[in-house]
Amino acid sequence: PLRGVGASHAKAILFGEHAVVYGAPAIAIPVDSLTAEAVIERGAPGLRIESSLFTGPVEDAPARLAPVVTAIRASLERAGLGELARGVDAQGATVRIRSAIPHERGLGSSAAVAAAITRAAFDLAGSALDDETLFELIQTAEKVAHGTPSGIDARTVAATGAIRFNRGAVAPIRIGAPLTLAFADSGHPGSTAKAVGSVQALREREPETTDALLSRLAEIAEGSIADLAAGDRAAIGAAMTEAHGILNRVGVSSERLDAITEAAREAGAAGAKLTGGGLGGCVIAVADDAAHADRIGAAMRRAGAERTWTVEVPAA
Ligand code: MEV
Repeated sequence: PLRGVGASHAKAILFGEHAVVYGAPAIAIPVDSLTAEAVIERGAPGLRIESSLFTGPVEDAPARLAPVVTAIRASLERAGLGELARGVDAQGATVRIRSAIPHERGLGSSAAVAAAITRAAFDLAGSALDDETLFELIQTAEKVAHGTPSGIDARTVAATGAIRFNRGAVAPIRIGAPLTLAFADSGHPGSTAKAVGSVQALREREPETTDALLSRLAEIAEGSIADLAAGDRAAIGAAMTEAHGILNRVGVSSERLDAITEAAREAGAAGAKLTGGGLGGCVIAVADDAAHADRIGAAMRRAGAERTWTVEVPAA
């Protein structure tokens, strides 16, 4: 084939971010409305990238694209296209990447782009891609992006429903009633590497208090499984609000994120929290229904959110 295509979607962590890095369970959902796509087309000298951030030979890509370059090279190599991966193939190829997932907002954009590239590489090679190989290749790129990824992003961008993630393994969880979430992008980027590093530093300075806080995040995540299965919005919201407070105490919230969660609660959200690495990025809030999510969204924009949208988590 002369062309390989691949796509993937964003993710959102409902409970357990940061604690998951230390082996705690976490709960996450796919966000199908935000996608990343990759097309690899034969017939260019060497190996080229075309993306909104950079267009040119892979070897000239800027440092911030290092995870993308890793994903391209590792997945082509693994798919059986080693010469193309090394740019010494007679035909060459261009890798076109398009992503609607905002970057550095806790929504798994780096993992989703790596997943799209991996699927495109295996499609081009005509090779079958199993879940474990996909996971490993996304993780290879994620390690370049932020050092010690737990793997939750890599699993959730390939998941088709809500999951419980623990130490690399995933299990689907039950969503007892449709759940409407209002999302807000704070407009501030949040570096996962920086956020994870600051929790690690806090853990070194104050091991006992930090571990107690991380354990509480783990309990909240585990406890949320029954609430999600029961469709208990009030309990899910209360758990989110408590989790946000703890994430604030471990130092990964920000004034803007705190203001947005507060505005959501004042607008009647059952609860709200930051999602993903924090320091910037997104907030999620539990709404009663779509109309309520619109009102919460408007309140969050008044509190400084750059953009808001609604995500419906279907019963499953
Ligand atoms: C990032 O989406 C979630 C963190 O827990 C980091 C990780 O799990 O690798 C902050």
